[in-house]
Amino acid sequence: MILGFIGTGKISSSIIFGIFKSKLKIKRIYISSRNRNIAKKLSKSYVKIKILNNNQDIIDKSSVVLLGVTPNVGYKILPKLEFSKNKKIISLISTINLDKLKKITKSKNIVRAIPLPPIEIKKGPVIVCPPSKFAKNIFKHVGQVLEVRNEKLSYKFWSTASLMATYYEILNTSSKWLNKKGINKKLADTYVAELFLSLSQDALNKSSQGFKKLVADSQTPKGLNMQVLNELKKGKFFTKFTKALENVNKRVSK
Ligand SMILES: NC(=O)c1ccc[n+]([C@@H]2O[C@H](COP(=O)([O-])OP(=O)(O)OC[C@H]3O[C@@H](n4cnc5c(N)ncnc54)[C@H](OP(=O)(O)O)[C@@H]3O)[C@@H](O)[C@H]2O)c1
Repeated sequence: MILGFIGTGKISSSIIFGIFKSKLKIKRIYISSRNRNIAKKLSKSYVKIKILNNNQDIIDKSSVVLLGVTPNVGYKILPKLEFSKNKKIISLISTINLDKLKKITKSKNIVRAIPLPPIEIKKGPVIVCPPSKFAKNIFKHVGQVLEVRNEKLSYKFWSTASLMATYYEILNTSSKWLNKKGINKKLADTYVAELFLSLSQDALNKSSQGFKKLVADSQTPKGLNMQVLNELKKGKFFTKFTKALENVNKRVSK
């Protein structure tokens, strides 16, 4: 398989790092020279990577093209590029919908995907819309492919995917608090990362039971977990949390 990446930024490079840790058979990966530093780092790390300065060359030489640019750049550069009618395209762009993408690229073989940076360690969900054999055959090697038929519903995952920074801030706040109370930073960081990793793994194993049960099971009546949860609820933490999801939803559904 020959892959081409238009835009060599955070998400493209995360996918590429994941692919080279996986069993996906790759003949070559063409990447754009932007971002220059990331492109250089990737080409130094893997002999199968070749940097091309011209986006059209990347498209012409690849069997599957991944669009890893921001929406503004996408609107600017895609109309000037030519995609053959059957070119397989995976758009990673957040806010250009399938209709527009089909019109701009004139390709019928186009799908949207939402991978996340942990794809770099072959972890995490990858939303693919609509279901697509070629996209699944790539992403199944680097993450958990979740196919969504309805595009409007697939947008909803942009909101939950936008919880990443907040999640890391919860880890950061917890570790900083421990550190302030006298625990050394390395111990605090390790403890917090291990704590949340174990909780997430346990939640995944038990997801069929429903998360509500996990919330209930992790509280002793009048215990410490109950105290924190109630304090946060009183402070409208979860109301604000849901509001933030709604606001991202409004932004990506336009
Ligand atoms: N980051 C995530 O977690 C994530 C997850 C899923 C989807 N996405 C989506 O994926 C897209 C890319 O996000 P990102 O976080 O990877 O952004 P990013 O790190 O800013 O990457 C965008 C890349 O596009 C390059 N670029 C700019 N103009 C270009 C051109 N004319 N031709 C080719 N490349 C050009 C930029 O190069 P320069 O640095 O040289 O300008 C940069 O390397 C966005 O639409 C985003 O919503 C991101």
